[in-house]
Amino acid sequence: MENKIYEQVPQEEPQRQFYYMEKAKGYVNALAEKLGRRPTFCVTTFGCQMNARDSEKLTGILETIGYEAAENEEADFVIYNTCTVRENANNKVWGRLGYLSTYKKHHPHMKIALCGCMMQEPEVIEKLRKSYRFVDLIFGTHNIYKFAELIVATFEQKGMVIDIWKDTDKIVEDLPVDRKYSFKSGVNIMFGCNNFCSYCIVPYVRGRERSRKPQDIIREIEHLVADGVVEIMLLGQNVNSYGKNLDTPVTFAELLQEVEKIEGLERIRFMTSHPKDLSDELIEVMGKSKKICKHLHLPLQSGSSRILKEMNRHYNKEQYLTLVDKIRKAVPDIALTTDIIVGFPGETEEDFLETMDVVKRVRYDSAFTFIYSKRTGTPAASIKEQVPEDVVKDRFDRLLKEVQADAAERAQALTGRTESVLVEEVNEQDNHLVTGRLSNNFIVHFPGTKDLVGKIINVKLKECKGFYFYGEIVE
Ligand code: SAH
Ligand code: SF4
Ligand code: F3S
Repeated sequence: MENKIYEQVPQEEPQRQFYYMEKAKGYVNALAEKLGRRPTFCVTTFGCQMNARDSEKLTGILETIGYEAAENEEADFVIYNTCTVRENANNKVWGRLGYLSTYKKHHPHMKIALCGCMMQEPEVIEKLRKSYRFVDLIFGTHNIYKFAELIVATFEQKGMVIDIWKDTDKIVEDLPVDRKYSFKSGVNIMFGCNNFCSYCIVPYVRGRERSRKPQDIIREIEHLVADGVVEIMLLGQNVNSYGKNLDTPVTFAELLQEVEKIEGLERIRFMTSHPKDLSDELIEVMGKSKKICKHLHLPLQSGSSRILKEMNRHYNKEQYLTLVDKIRKAVPDIALTTDIIVGFPGETEEDFLETMDVVKRVRYDSAFTFIYSKRTGTPAASIKEQVPEDVVKDRFDRLLKEVQADAAERAQALTGRTESVLVEEVNEQDNHLVTGRLSNNFIVHFPGTKDLVGKIINVKLKECKGFYFYGEIVE
């Protein structure tokens, strides 16, 4: 399809984008001639797995049109794929844009593009328009598939190219993707979020929930497996509500069973499960599956039923704990991980102690702890009683201590076992070692060579180092 010559601009996708990729190749080749070398690009990802997957799509297009990957941001085309889930994610982007502007002054032909969640905020666009005129291209989360078309616009148009959509019901399939890892891959199963947790900006910047058709997902995974992938991670903000709005509704548990059948695929992960939608059917499928990894990320957010209500999470402390019991009964070796927010507006010491209580009871294998960050436009942003900074800091430290102690204890209990491990890379600090991941998501370092990368092998966990292990291969 890529070499087809089009008479006029096709209206359908993805044909339209292949047309623009051909056109972009011409501009990139001309630039290469001028520079006397292939022009380079660097995509920097902020935020979650969803953004990481989007960056692989951007990279696929850039490589198709003739850019070469650069080691760092001293490149001819720099792209920031941004996140806005917490204020510090935004601050990082503003800070780094400062450096880029200095670099661009000495390299005027350089292009800078910004995309991702932060670009869906009108105030951000205002600020960029006013004070960051050196940025060449700005687009959002809904039209990322148009990257080739937008690149062509930057070659043909003077000034900033800005294209932001408020929402979309469109899913464009079959565009090029360049994976970061040859042996594992994220796979989007749905986009957007309908949950509107009161603190969270994601539904506003990622739009309404849209599920991909099961046959498109299966076809993508089959291609990935044919291309050497053994582990996939199914991605969505709330995978448990997958398929509800499809013309022929399908449950997430049903999708998993179809994915399980794909020959050659060894491991299945998924992210993220909202506790309110986690079905008994899913627990049963997890219990029976040979391929679904023994790991469940189940965000708690708070252990206080009162705060959970304020957060619009649709479950309470008891329901969460009951769910954990059910899962542990059905899948005894499962590792549980979570996300917790400290300092939600109005959180009292009692509320916080409820969170500590859940943490102590569940004993997570790992937990991401976040300080509440006020996001403009969300319902929680208008709650007046903010928790004083020093109180939040104190609670955060106490919580962190607890989750770290639990995680270390959980890991310690695995010492001496032999587990199957997917080897991911040669260890960065010591190249006699390779690093692999257990089904339960723990990491192990052990003596080995580069040829093991991408293979699943048995490793004995010899020594626990808190959050990771040292091990040795068992023949
Ligand atoms: N869809 C996923 C989470 C996506 S955001 C889910 O519902 O689990 C990842 C995590 O960021 C959330 O689980 C939450 O713990 C945290 N988070 C989201 N908004 C936040 C905010 N305003 N302040 C602090 N943490 C936040
Ligand atoms: Fe945000 Fe809640 Fe949606 Fe997760 S489920 S992305 S926390 S609104
Ligand atoms: Fe951030 Fe967007 Fe993900 S806000 S956490 S990159 S969905």
